[in-house]
This record gives sequence, C-alpha cells and structure tokens, in this order.
Amino acid sequence: MRVITTIAEAQAQPYAKRRVLVPTMGALHRAHGEMLGVARKHTGHDGEVALSIFVNPLQFEPGSDYERYPRPEKRTKNFVEMPASIFVPPQCCGDALTIVQCLSRSPLSNTLEGKSRPGHFRGVCTVVAKLFNVLSPDAALFGEKDFQQLVIVRRMVRDLNFKTDIIAVPTVREEDGLACSSRNQYLNIEERKQAPVLHRALLAAANAGNKSARNCRACQQSNR
Ligand code: PAF
Repeated sequence: MRVITTIAEAQAQPYAKRRVLVPTMGALHRAHGEMLGVARKHTGHDGEVALSIFVNPLQFEPGSDYERYPRPEKRTKNFVEMPASIFVPPQCCGDALTIVQCLSRSPLSNTLEGKSRPGHFRGVCTVVAKLFNVLSPDAALFGEKDFQQLVIVRRMVRDLNFKTDIIAVPTVREEDGLACSSRNQYLNIEERKQAPVLHRALLAAANAGNKSARNCRACQQSNR
C-alpha cells in the first residue's frame, strides 16, 4: 500500500494501466470492504485501486456533525493494508473561489436530501471533481445507499465531460436489513433496534406496488 498525503505527490504518481477510485470519508465499514473488492475486479490485473479518505467540510451543513463525524485513523489504516491501494486525503481549499454546483432549479438537487441539506451536493460535487482532477481515475465507485449522490455525480460527469466511468455498488446491509453506514454508530441501543423498520417498510411498499401492478395487468388482460 502506498500512502499519499499531498496533491503534488498524487499527481506525480506513475499512471497505472487502469485506476479505479473508491472515494470515502474514512470511517470505513463492511460496505467499503465490498467496494474495494468490486474496484479490484474493475482494475484488471495490472491496474490499481485508489482509496481516498477526506472528511469534506464543504458537504456538512453549519451546525451538523462535521466535528463529531468518526475519524478512526487506526482502523482505516488496517483496512486499506492491501497491495495497490493508495490513501489520499486531498487538501480541500477552504478559500476556493470556484465550486461545482447543480443548478438549484434542478429537481435532482433541490428535492429529498438536497432540500433538507442545502449546500450538501455542492460540497460533494466540488470534492469529487477535485478528486477526479487529482487522480484521473478511469472509474469511480459510488454506493446506491446514497442514491441521490450517485445520480448527481453521474450527471456532473456527463455535464463536465469527465472521462471517469461511474460504477454503482448495491447497498450492503447488516443482517437485520439496516444499510451499513458510518453514521449508524450515532444510534443508541433503542434506535438501533428500531432502525431496520425503514428497510422493512420500503420492501413492503415495493411488494405492494409490484402486486398492484400485477393485478392491474391481469385486470387489463381479462378485459380484452
Ligand atoms: O459518500 C461519501 O462518503 C462522500 O460523499 C464522498 C463521495 C466521499 C465525497 O466526500
């Protein structure tokens, strides 16, 4: 594993045949392990996986959990101790005058998380664009857990003509259905017990939707 701590060093790296980036904020868990496995499959035998670690202040709302966000330095290092991974905390310029922002009229950025966390996707797009510029990855992996982020990053790549392919990785879940997330550790015992109800409710809604679509089709066919 090479550990790279400056942008200059990252940009001076000899270019691998194929470089696949797993961008993270460093509080690694099982889902990141799966992403590294997927990344490795996409690099081919002479490519390399780059794992970036940066708790990006631009994507945290004022008064949110930036200070509290888990920064388990030791666990992170153990986790990435595998050949060909790189560890890059990009210095993010707090004084930058240029940012990457989805137009606010777009429903992609002004609904759901974009509505409750204004500024969040601007922070994500800015740092992801910087990572793409610094590391020039051929492909980058994003989890479907943060589906809106995945869609917005895909759109940014298309709009700004980045050459990076965006690969979606299915959500990795705990045994009881809760999506693996760094922030799960904020939950107390009671909240942790309740949390999987979200997944169960979504599955029930999807099943009900599928069932009524089937009934509807059956109805249409019997009326022909
Ligand atoms: O999904 C995340 O962990 C972050 O939003 C990302 C993509 C690393 C950008 O900071």
